[in-house]
Amino acid sequence: MAKYPVTKPYFTEEELSMISGALDSGWVAQGPSVAKFEQAVAAHEGIKEGVATTSCTTALHLAMVAEGLGAGMDAIAPAFTFVATENSIVLTGATPVMTDIDQNTFNIDVDRLKETIASTYGKKDGKLVNKETGNVLWGIVPVHEFGLCCNILEVNEIAKEYGLKVVEDAACALGAKIGDTHQGAFGNTSCISFHPRKSITTGEGGMVLTDDPALAKRMRELRTHGSTVSADARDKGKGFLLPEFNEAGFNYRMTDIQGAMGLAQIKKLDMIIDAKRKGAEIYNGLINDRLKVFRTPVEPEGYFHTYQSYVCMLDYKALGLSSIKEGGEYRNILLQKLEDIGIATRQGTHAVHMLGYYRNRFGYKPEDMINAYACDHLSITLPLYVGITAEDQEYIIDTIGKTISSM
Ligand SMILES: Cc1ncc(COP(=O)(O)O)c(C=O)c1O
Repeated sequence: MAKYPVTKPYFTEEELSMISGALDSGWVAQGPSVAKFEQAVAAHEGIKEGVATTSCTTALHLAMVAEGLGAGMDAIAPAFTFVATENSIVLTGATPVMTDIDQNTFNIDVDRLKETIASTYGKKDGKLVNKETGNVLWGIVPVHEFGLCCNILEVNEIAKEYGLKVVEDAACALGAKIGDTHQGAFGNTSCISFHPRKSITTGEGGMVLTDDPALAKRMRELRTHGSTVSADARDKGKGFLLPEFNEAGFNYRMTDIQGAMGLAQIKKLDMIIDAKRKGAEIYNGLINDRLKVFRTPVEPEGYFHTYQSYVCMLDYKALGLSSIKEGGEYRNILLQKLEDIGIATRQGTHAVHMLGYYRNRFGYKPEDMINAYACDHLSITLPLYVGITAEDQEYIIDTIGKTISSM
């Protein structure tokens, strides 16, 4: 393991004691601890309902299916995101249509979103229909990348104008806000990840958040094979009879071992975010002062960034390089050199339009989503976690500076 990993989950004795409580109870599949974890996460975000799942990918799939996405439909998503955003659209049988991002925020560019809608769809019987494929545009899957909310207010306006659904990919953004309103509380469903790279973790895990109790009920049924009764409710009632199944659902249940761990983790969320925000401020100061070829992440006025990941951009022009491609090659050599001396870094995330499946299926070229392509090549995630010290951060920035000078 690197001396400075890119991130580290934060645990105390409490996780162990909560997990052993679940084991002692004998109830380890989805049950009371998951229900309490759902309530705790939803309450933290100011939302009525949480529906826990095995991952954010399954949360996205579940929410999209419950919101009616399927074959013969399109969903628009940003190209700079983890591949799971687009994959979950594909899983429903629908077609992902990508749009570009803003390089400053790493989030969906609403002007590009409007252009994508205008250039791809025509109006037919009050619906937006894909001019090439005939697919109906179902909605938008914006991403709150790296812990910063996208411009969800404008995305919602666009969705309202065209009668579209919105499912927010908030995998990285638990705790993120605009003003006092948390991600997921802007009138849509949102999906969280509890993978260890995220602010809090249950090993693997996810959750859909919604203010719509009927939608939450439907998602709970779909999560359990389409069952009209959950396993623990059955245990409390006439457990000997299997319930009715009105839909072909999935098994996307989080275990109670994970739910118990999540209950210990959610109590730490505010402290973890606070520590990361302080660490981000230290990096911002050091980089702006000493590492001019890096551009620090942006927190727009009124937004509350959780810095799930602290992601910078390499200014390839300031290095005298002539293209994004050359900048990317330079970035990769730099990251390799840092890894060799124990500083783990990562490319922020990828340009999904350039990944094999999507490139081959849709024939995308780099320039189709040039900002996503640039961020794919030039982004750098620096180590940030509870316990990293200001001295560690100073050492990391100075080492990056010296490495660049030696290249
Ligand atoms: C933006 C985004 N969406 C979806 C996912 C998928 O999350 P999970 O690993 O919980 O399925 C991730 C995970 O990294 C992500 O960053």
